[in-house]
Amino acid sequence: MDDDKYPPESDRRRFVKGVVGSAALAGVATTGGAAIDTLTAPSGEGGGATTYFGFENTGGPAPRGMPQIPVEIDSEGFVRGVFPEYETRTVGGREVDVAETEIAGETYSARWFQYCGVQTYAGILPDADQDNYFRYASSSPYDWQGDLSGRMHVDDFEEVGESYEAWGNGIGQSGLGKPARGTWRSEGIKAAETMPVEVIRSPIIEEKAQDDEWLAATTDRGVAARLNKCTHFCCVPGFKAQGDAANFGAADRIYCQCHQSVYDPFTVVKTQFTALPRPGN
Ligand code: FES
Repeated sequence: MDDDKYPPESDRRRFVKGVVGSAALAGVATTGGAAIDTLTAPSGEGGGATTYFGFENTGGPAPRGMPQIPVEIDSEGFVRGVFPEYETRTVGGREVDVAETEIAGETYSARWFQYCGVQTYAGILPDADQDNYFRYASSSPYDWQGDLSGRMHVDDFEEVGESYEAWGNGIGQSGLGKPARGTWRSEGIKAAETMPVEVIRSPIIEEKAQDDEWLAATTDRGVAARLNKCTHFCCVPGFKAQGDAANFGAADRIYCQCHQSVYDPFTVVKTQFTALPRPGN
């Protein structure tokens, strides 16, 4: 026997066992998604091929859309992002934490956000104790945010500065929507692990949601949100945040200044990526 090709019997058995274990794990972790390549999946929990909804990538080197965060507005008008509760499932004798739920017949999973290092952030892990409200970021390219802090309120987009139906800042066309920079699930967590979000209240989203089941379920009064990490190399893009967006046909789009990727803020598409695993127990 060629020892290089065939490791000693005991090692080989261990290898085969490991593959079976991870295949079983992948079977649960990919509910609603495509099959995972179990042999090449990195170790840890909850990674693998994942179907998600994101704001469409329309230009530049980014490989895919940025993940949408389904929005809820509470009875007082504060805006929060839906985050699926974790539950522990036993798979192949091993306990695995899975966070997913159904929205409009689609599977929404915490895995949507497992890229660019976010998969290791405290706010995404099963033991995170967070309230899901979007809070204003301490710095923003949008003047209207001024000194706003704390939880975002739907009326802010109407009453602070120009209404979302008319707002503009000299970049591209006015009246398409009003963006705000925020954070999500990052209270009391070190700055390096802040989950950046951009929330846009837009009359276009409001109108589209009238005959789009997914948008109707994941936006409210024209408010839509996304994790604001470019899928190219993790920079923080923006809708009307950079004047040079106009040079790349992106004055009315979400534009990433790092390498000129462009995303459509009004079009959400269903697509796939390979989520990175959270650190294992
Ligand atoms: S285009 Fe490269 S990080 Fe956004």
